Amino acid sequence: MAGKEPEIITDKNQMRKWSRAMRSQGKTIGLVPTMGYLHEGHISLIKEAHKRTNLIVVSVYVNPGQFSPTEDLSTYPSDFHGDIQKLMAVPGGVDVVFHPHNLYDYAEGKPTGINNNGSNCENSGVGEPERKGVVSCVEERGLGHETWVRVERLEKGMCGKSRPVFFRGVATVVTKLFNIVEPDVAMFGKKDYQQWRIIQRMALSINRSLSGAKSAAENGQVNCRELRNLVIQAVNSAGGRIDYAEIVDQETLEAVEEIQSPVVFCIAAWFGKVRLIDNLEINISK
Ligand code: PAF
Repeated sequence: MAGKEPEIITDKNQMRKWSRAMRSQGKTIGLVPTMGYLHEGHISLIKEAHKRTNLIVVSVYVNPGQFSPTEDLSTYPSDFHGDIQKLMAVPGGVDVVFHPHNLYDYAEGKPTGINNNGSNCENSGVGEPERKGVVSCVEERGLGHETWVRVERLEKGMCGKSRPVFFRGVATVVTKLFNIVEPDVAMFGKKDYQQWRIIQRMALSINRSLSGAKSAAENGQVNCRELRNLVIQAVNSAGGRIDYAEIVDQETLEAVEEIQSPVVFCIAAWFGKVRLIDNLEINISK
């Protein structure tokens, strides 16, 4: 039985605009990242997301970054129209399908894809993507993309041994999707346990530095300069560059020097070309 038809968004700025508009109306957003060709596993993640958030975004993007040049992306199965039908049959449906053509930066003036013959080959628009144009392992193709998110220890074993570029591709594209969709919750299957653990670790690492500052505050360190330094040092030593690290009053959003009322610690940091944001409320009063 067909239910509501999802809005299909292909442009990342449009996607971010939609998310921000929904959040400003107080709505929460769940993201289910996929590479399409949906099956029961994906549907069960969508049903789980429905229990947690008001709105659901499903991304359908075959990520070239997680395929090595020897892996043939053109044979990766795809059925975009079938996927939409499956999503319409999910109870409660899906609000948006984010179906970008390309999420990687390429050198100025270069085409968005190069096939094995070196000719220009952009994907088609909404609908069934033209697979022949998708390149595997964008970096090796020399298209200009060179920034990767890596979870170095966890990516080494098991699948990482036989597919050396796989997990950096996954961590990179998931970071991009988080930055674009800005979801409250994202759902990942545990079938690929190593992938699930890597994504969990990546999201945790920035959050952990904030938790350290929160514990310090709860243990009596109320000087905001000291607390900010803790987080800045942790981010720097993880290879990041702070954009801002502010401790502000929860109501007025004004920076405070000493914690005397509920505050929120907000942080934005660059890891390569990727900017991550996070925040943590600290509810101690003096
Ligand atoms: O598990 C997958 O389908 C993909 O690795 C993911 C998480 C969508 C990233 O491309």
